[in-house]
Amino acid sequence: MKIFSFEAKGKYVIKVCDGTACHVRKSIPILEGLYKELGGLGKKKHTTDDQLFTVETVSCLGACGLAPAVMVNDEVHPKMTPEKMSELIKKLREEEE
Ligand code: FES
Repeated sequence: MKIFSFEAKGKYVIKVCDGTACHVRKSIPILEGLYKELGGLGKKKHTTDDQLFTVETVSCLGACGLAPAVMVNDEVHPKMTPEKMSELIKKLREEEE
């Protein structure tokens, strides 16, 4: 018998770095913007109902010099801002339509 105890992840897994370097460069507003934009995600709910996005935090992406950094699937997006993040989400949503 298989046991699916892990949470299913969305098509786009967004890892917001909240390590020290990123935190001091304001990673939290990026994270909160994402939670809002993706309709009620938060610390307990990580994946959107349409299974498109999963939001997680990580403690370092190894790109501290480019803080704040966000990783979407395999791609690191350096020097992220809440505005840029929002645009990226829109773009990914459009691609899905
Ligand atoms: S602390 Fe964010 S990339 Fe290292």
